[in-house]
Amino acid sequence: MILTRTAAELAALPRGRRRAVVMTMGALHEGHLSLIRRARELGDQVVVTIFVNPLQFDEQADYDRYPRTLEADLALLEPFGVDAVFAPSEAEMYPAGEPTATVSAGVIGRVLEGAARPGHFDGVVTVVAKLLHLTAPDVAVFGAKDAQQVIAVNALVRDLNFPVEIATAATVRDDDGLARSSRNVFLSPEERHTSLGLSRALFAARDAAEAGQPLPAVIAAGRAILDGDDGIGLDYFAALNPADASELEGDYRGEVVIAVAARVGATRLIDNVTTRIGSPSAEGDWR
Ligand code: PAJ
Repeated sequence: MILTRTAAELAALPRGRRRAVVMTMGALHEGHLSLIRRARELGDQVVVTIFVNPLQFDEQADYDRYPRTLEADLALLEPFGVDAVFAPSEAEMYPAGEPTATVSAGVIGRVLEGAARPGHFDGVVTVVAKLLHLTAPDVAVFGAKDAQQVIAVNALVRDLNFPVEIATAATVRDDDGLARSSRNVFLSPEERHTSLGLSRALFAARDAAEAGQPLPAVIAAGRAILDGDDGIGLDYFAALNPADASELEGDYRGEVVIAVAARVGATRLIDNVTTRIGSPSAEGDWR
């Protein structure tokens, strides 16, 4: 496994036949590793990027306390069939400090997770654009855990004609349902227990959808679980259109992402499930 720290070192890396890239902010866990497994299926050369991107943090304190565990990350990746790691410094990525030219995530960056974290998705798509230029992948793999991020990255690639395929990998959870996240290390045992409400609410909503309930009842089934819990500071529990992250309501039928964001103690957590509202007709259409 080759460790590259600069754009020049990365550019000198010989290309495989098909390069698959996984972008991360480090503090690697099973969720990241499943993306790397997917990348190994999709390409013969796997490059992992590790960079805590200051542009996507809307709170300085959140950026400052984000776990940085490069040595442990490299040790985890070494036996995993990763060909190269790109772990640039902040000065390497943003030599002039905050960049003048940036990319906007547009309306996707202003709703739901974007409304709660102004500028977050602009920061994400800006660094993803840079990392796509620098790593030049044939395919890049993103986690379904961050559903709105996947929608924003797909829009970036489509709207600005990046010559790359975007693949997704399913959300990895602990046995009790909690989605793996680099932020889970901040949860006390009690908070971790409280956090299970998020996945329980999502699964209740998914069960309601699979039982043929209409969208408002599906959302109500999830919210009922969260409303009863004092330890959960709910930000949103909503249905998103997987195509553009717009919020869905009423008699909508078809595929939906049910997404939740909440604060447990000082830690903000997000999670989601994908399901369908309505049942397929004999022709396979949703009605
Ligand atoms: P980070 O939070 O480190 O996540 C890196 C990738 O791992 C993302 O695609 C994310 O969706 C995926 N991931 C995280 N937890 C997961 C889980 N439990 N199951 C499946 N996939 C999971 O997302 C970012 O970094 C950044 O925004 C980045 C894209 C690197 C840009 O800075």
